[in-house]
Amino acid sequence: MMLHMIPYLSGRIGIMAAMPEELQTLLDAMLDETVVVKAGRQFWVGHLCGREVVVVLSRIGKVAAAITTTVLLTDFGVDQVVFTGVAGGLGDGVRVGDVVVADALIQHDMDASPLFPRFELPGLGTSTLQPPADLTHLVHEAVQQVLSLDSLAEGGALSGVHLDVLGLPQPKVHRGLIISGDQFINAATASAALRQVLPQALAVEMEGAAVAQVCHDFGVPFAVIRTISDRADDDAHVDFPRFVSAVARHYSLAMVFALLRLQ
Ligand code: ADE
Repeated sequence: MMLHMIPYLSGRIGIMAAMPEELQTLLDAMLDETVVVKAGRQFWVGHLCGREVVVVLSRIGKVAAAITTTVLLTDFGVDQVVFTGVAGGLGDGVRVGDVVVADALIQHDMDASPLFPRFELPGLGTSTLQPPADLTHLVHEAVQQVLSLDSLAEGGALSGVHLDVLGLPQPKVHRGLIISGDQFINAATASAALRQVLPQALAVEMEGAAVAQVCHDFGVPFAVIRTISDRADDDAHVDFPRFVSAVARHYSLAMVFALLRLQ
């Protein structure tokens, strides 16, 4: 495994966005980008906040995101990967509009039992992949800045985002377990079943733990940041698109900027 030798948030940073709306706000902020096409994906190489970045749409699902991550690491030589996207909230008190920073990730649909314990990644001897604690800490700090009252106030980074219009309260940042699988969770029964088997899970999505597995195997630090778009219940498919266009893309840009501006 490669050893991580450069400080976090320096060198070449791969930024993966899950939704085209989020990707677009990042591309609009890049002034010098050039596009390179690999594996049918467009990789935008350039600068954000003076840092060298490669921005790409992850695509949806674990395999697609794993391919995108592998190309980012092997063809573009990024030194770290930051994933930003939306997720369904699972944990108590994790509400729409909140942000979850992963300190651990599990593939909730991995089950090679009885050969291996449920959720264990065969060959890795564990089910749980953890981003470096220092990087998670930095990301948490950046998100906290973005979600502060100042940021939502007039002139702040999120001043264009009217959470009250969507009936959303002051958002919070959480740090904890994010689970990933190849399913959009769109039923209260399905999210209850996930909560039962993985009670520590704060959020569910479809890519993060796959990105984590690739980064783990290449020894490259990564972070996963998810804004809660729905509660993974019977209304998830209605809440999700509304939230992405009204809120998530603004959050992504503000969080990536706050992170890249940290020293
Ligand atoms: N991403 C956003 N909401 C989700 C949900 N309910 N299930 C899976 N992935 C999601």
